[in-house]
Amino acid sequence: MKTLKTQVAIIGAGPSGLLLGQLLHNAGIATVIVERQTPAYVQERIRAGVLEQGMVDLLRQAGVGQRMDTEGLVHAGFQVALGERQVHIDLHALTGGKTVMIYGQTEVTRDLMAARQVAGALTLYEASNVVPHGMKSAEPFVTFEKDGETWRLDCDYIAGCDGFHGVARQSIPADTLKVFERVYPFGWLGILADTPPVHDELVYARHARGFALCSMRSTTRTRYYLQVPSNEKVEDWSDQRFWEELKLRLPSALADTLVSGPSIEKSIAPLRSFVVEPMQYGRMFLVGDAAHIVPPTGAKGLNLAASDVSTLFNILLKVYRDGRTELLEKYSEICLRRVWKAERFSWWMTSMLHTFDDNDAFSQRISESELEYFVDSEAGRKTIAENYVGLPYEAIE
Ligand code: APR
Ligand code: PHB
Repeated sequence: MKTLKTQVAIIGAGPSGLLLGQLLHNAGIATVIVERQTPAYVQERIRAGVLEQGMVDLLRQAGVGQRMDTEGLVHAGFQVALGERQVHIDLHALTGGKTVMIYGQTEVTRDLMAARQVAGALTLYEASNVVPHGMKSAEPFVTFEKDGETWRLDCDYIAGCDGFHGVARQSIPADTLKVFERVYPFGWLGILADTPPVHDELVYARHARGFALCSMRSTTRTRYYLQVPSNEKVEDWSDQRFWEELKLRLPSALADTLVSGPSIEKSIAPLRSFVVEPMQYGRMFLVGDAAHIVPPTGAKGLNLAASDVSTLFNILLKVYRDGRTELLEKYSEICLRRVWKAERFSWWMTSMLHTFDDNDAFSQRISESELEYFVDSEAGRKTIAENYVGLPYEAIE
């Protein structure tokens, strides 16, 4: 058996694991990341693209903000479409100057992978059978197989950054965890295309045919989504069918100017809300998608991962620098306060913007009216805006 030793063993090289690794490395705390997939696989997964101010600041703090600051698009607002109407949510004015950054998760991941390589910190890709051990003891470790050999990685702490399907959460005895879950009766069909965005801001459209979202990755690359039933098959959606359906769900002023083009990627993602409590077990901490999932409507998934990373990083910093081990106990409760607020916002935006087939006529009208009320009232727009730009991170005292 090969053996290795580090301070913090990180399972998973997604945005959570890589960002935590970079912050710890910069602070002089050693990490090893163990990842199941290849670097190319991790790099190419297409996910979200809206960064809250808090995440933007954290990426800069980690020293990986340069390309984001030159290539990312600062958005000071977004559009809500209701049938033929369009309402501007002026994030900047409604939040006292806050904005969001449009910069794809693929780019964030690429920047973090490059920085880790420059730092010379170890990431073991294509590791199989990864298992955390001894989390309740003072000497936890992670075992895995790589290139036909068994490895043992000894550490002080384990960060479970291995996403929703990861091993970290599944290694915690089920009777010590409480699971909260809601599965929605629809998914999002998304396409990526090299076409100019239909609007210079994101457009969230509620329509009787179903929700649509016009997002972007740059001024030349678009990411558009359609609400589809959960059993829908991507093979049944030609590019042409996608563009036609999208136009039907947008106000005609937008539909008329929409530029279509061949898709570079097309996939269907289910919508789910999921939280596990607590987010820690002994010396192992769950971070990001390993602990919670939100439906994508409020663009909170990646941003919540970043706030978990910030909390764990700031706690570990105080543990290693000042011996403040009592803070470790607080990780889960601090994270969960913010997690639940983002869960609520994502669920609420999802319920106001989508059509639910199983809803009775009364519920349908109530949700239409709720969206109209919120976008037509200054107080309502403020509520949407302050959640969208991201609620503050809690300080670790
Ligand atoms: N062993 C090792 N690595 C694993 C294992 C395992 N058993 N299971 C999963 N992984 C790896 C995955 O291959 C992936 O690279 O863990 C990583 C988890 O990454 P993500 O799923 O991207 O999760 P996270 O880093 O928390 O990113 C936050 O929020 O809403 C989302 O789109 C957003 O993906 C983003 C996420
Ligand atoms: C995206 O660009 O992929 C995106 C943007 C906003 C969302 C969800 C996804 O709310």
